[in-house]
Amino acid sequence: MQSIFLLLISLTINGAQGERLLGRVNPETRELSWPGTGVAFSFTGSSATINLQRVSGSNSVELTVDGIATVIPSVSGASISTPPGLSNGTHKVVLRKRSEALFGSIFLGNITTVGTFEKDDEVTRKIEFIGDSITVGYGLDGVNPCQNNASVENNPKTYGALTAGALKADYAMIAWSGIGLTRNYPSNSPDPSPIMPVRWTRYNPNDANNSYPFPAAAIPNVVVINLGTNDFSYVGMRDPLNVDIYIAAMVQFIKDIKVHYPTATFFLVASPMIGDDYPAGDKTKTVQKKALGTVVKQLNGTDVHLVDWPTQGSDVGCDYHPSAAAHKLGASVVSAAIAEKLGW
Ligand SMILES: *[C@@H]1O[C@H](CO)[C@@H](O)[C@H](O)[C@H]1NC(C)=O
Ligand SMILES: *[C@@H]1O[C@H](CO)[C@@H](O)[C@H](O)[C@H]1NC(C)=O
Ligand SMILES: *[C@@H]1O[C@H](CO)[C@@H](O)[C@H](O)[C@H]1NC(C)=O
Ligand SMILES: *[C@@H]1O[C@H](CO)[C@@H](O)[C@H](O)[C@H]1NC(C)=O
Ligand SMILES: *[C@@H]1O[C@H](CO)[C@@H](O)[C@H](O)[C@H]1NC(C)=O
Repeated sequence: MQSIFLLLISLTINGAQGERLLGRVNPETRELSWPGTGVAFSFTGSSATINLQRVSGSNSVELTVDGIATVIPSVSGASISTPPGLSNGTHKVVLRKRSEALFGSIFLGNITTVGTFEKDDEVTRKIEFIGDSITVGYGLDGVNPCQNNASVENNPKTYGALTAGALKADYAMIAWSGIGLTRNYPSNSPDPSPIMPVRWTRYNPNDANNSYPFPAAAIPNVVVINLGTNDFSYVGMRDPLNVDIYIAAMVQFIKDIKVHYPTATFFLVASPMIGDDYPAGDKTKTVQKKALGTVVKQLNGTDVHLVDWPTQGSDVGCDYHPSAAAHKLGASVVSAAIAEKLGW
């Protein structure tokens, strides 16, 4: 009698079986903070609802049903539902955050359907992208000059999301605008907020240091690091970057990551926002590539590779950030490098 009772209970509350949280998401709080975090599930029926515990700040998401994406530029209310008019059949749903944590978070509730949930696809390849506003997709939907906000950030169109899509990999984006490897971008004054090696240890970027437990199921095969654009920025603001400090910090960061991901292959991406012509005479693109090449050598090169994302053109998003076209180009070079080295 009692076992029948328990069985009925578990059937009811397991409504959302088969859902997969996407990116670095704490399953206890279900907080979507980092850009690109979300949930995927499949169901048979004609509608499903993603309930929200609450929403803080401003957030933009993309809801994809059977490959058709809908943008919700500003998330509010208690739930997000599949669009009306779906056939009574099996449907695949992916919800992803387009905007980054500094604008806000979405706390997922349960997912319900009048139909039945199916098991979502298993994905074995995993890539972690670690970066700044470029990896976030800052201002990607804007045309410069424009002011960035949650609705013009577009993580699903970044080089990272496109690379993962091309390689059929799951992905986590550990990205925050303005962040550096050794120092952050100083908008008006020095930005004392945590640098990436510190934020990377956190479940959500504003959680306590070392709060991320590195669950075995989330360990990536590939780590892509795209950091340096903010470190190198200095004109009219501060002294130029000491490149030796940048090199040493990158070597140390990779060693720290390897403690948790011992079998990962690393790809270090040279920034598309850095060029050889600005600041005049600095040849910054060449300097960054050489620095990353030195990192590869110091780590003995076998599982760390340099990828050059060429300097972007004049077609740019808000505050000179890469456009959708520039991200496509970035995805082509990054995905080709990963495909070659991993045989994917
Ligand atoms: C949807 O289809 C299933 C079987 O394919 C059926 O059991 C169910 O009654 C249908 N639901 C509606 C609302 O028509
Ligand atoms: C799902 O969450 C909603 C809203 O919080 C709640 O009303 C409902 O009872 C929950 N359903 C299940 C199956 O847990
Ligand atoms: C977000 O930024 C874009 C581009 O600058 C602007 O057109 C839009 O009005 C802004 N949205 C909000 C809600 O501020
Ligand atoms: C987090 O770690 C960094 C680097 O060790 C340290 O500077 C900072 O004070 C720590 N933050 C907190 C809140 O403990
Ligand atoms: C790289 O190789 C050199 C020479 O064999 C060795 O001294 C050094 O410890 C190696 N570095 C790493 C990070 O494995």
